[in-house]
Amino acid sequence: MELSYIINELGEEREHYFNAVAPPVIQSSNFALRTVAEFRRKMQRETEEYLYSRGNNPTVTILEKKMAALEGAEHALAFSSGIAAIAAAVLSQVNAGDHVVSVRHPYHWADSLMRKFLPRFGVEVSMVDGTDIASYREAIKPNTKLLYLESPNSFTFELQDLGAVAVLAKEHNCTTIIDNSFASPLHQHPLKLGIDLVVHSCTKYIGGHSDVMGGVVCGAREMINKIFMREYMTLGAVLSPHDAWLFIRGLRTLPVRMERVAASARQVIAYLEQHPKVERVLFPFLASHPQHDLALQQMSNNSGQFSILLKAKSLEEVERFCDSLQHFLMAASWGGHESLIFPVAATYASEEHISTLPFNLVRFYVGLEDPDYLIKDLEQALSKI
Ligand SMILES: Cc1ncc(COP(=O)(O)O)c(C=O)c1O
Repeated sequence: MELSYIINELGEEREHYFNAVAPPVIQSSNFALRTVAEFRRKMQRETEEYLYSRGNNPTVTILEKKMAALEGAEHALAFSSGIAAIAAAVLSQVNAGDHVVSVRHPYHWADSLMRKFLPRFGVEVSMVDGTDIASYREAIKPNTKLLYLESPNSFTFELQDLGAVAVLAKEHNCTTIIDNSFASPLHQHPLKLGIDLVVHSCTKYIGGHSDVMGGVVCGAREMINKIFMREYMTLGAVLSPHDAWLFIRGLRTLPVRMERVAASARQVIAYLEQHPKVERVLFPFLASHPQHDLALQQMSNNSGQFSILLKAKSLEEVERFCDSLQHFLMAASWGGHESLIFPVAATYASEEHISTLPFNLVRFYVGLEDPDYLIKDLEQALSKI
């Protein structure tokens, strides 16, 4: 299916709403039935029908159809946040007594789900170095049901070999789930490489304007329908019709935004890489990166995120650099129009605080501004250390 068709037409039945180019927001919790027979029939096919919006809603369906097609999936289910989508997908695959193998250092609340939440319900989790397929293999036990991936992963942008993990999972009868938010559905297609379920924080690139939160799970119809009838309906973290509408609007410009952030990030990185106050740039698309070949093999382009290790001797020096930036905003999240930094230093409560990430690591997201404007800002902030 062509990208332009998915983004501009798929799922939209304009003849049903006056040929309006933008779809309607069907802001209704409820859908009326005309007969008992119709009510009965629809209740028996709840995964397909419009009965109640904590189930299906026509505006949300348009988004789900587009997201499924972008990922090459049979079906998709939209949630009220990325972490709600991740939690529902993970919970759908495990029972008490099961074991999960997860990449080390996934996004913070996925990490919390693995290390703090699942063990409360009798699910054991091993966190492994995702750069080495052997570490996934060695961690698998007879009761392992799920291999969890996030590639590139948060803050350090290390990759997992998606194809190799998928083969390993099939050998051991395990399901695979990947958080594909960083690559976006345009730059990496995990289902084609054998991964079973793909999740996104739509809050990031899909929305693209830092004004809406949501998530999605994409995969085979049978797996998605199972999530619908269990985690989706019982936990209830559904997306509102208006938020779905904002994501549909965000999707219209996704390819141009991704092209822009990819090119601008490369320009900003080229500047930072040669700067004497930058120790290292963590970005798998650099020729010097140990996983450069894998990046080229499983991703079609970079996104706007990378990290740097500053040549700073103290937390104070890192803080001085970050506080001096005037156009990169300091914030969580990424994927919007605005360029951002997230300094690991902000997670250090004191000089003695031990974090698994170095104090001089600063995560960057390059947004839609002119890259020269951003480079000038970096230049003046780097001159302060
Ligand atoms: C990689 C990644 N996955 C998932 C999430 C969670 O998404 P949300 O904030 O929409 O719940 C985030 C949020 O920052 C993230 O960075």
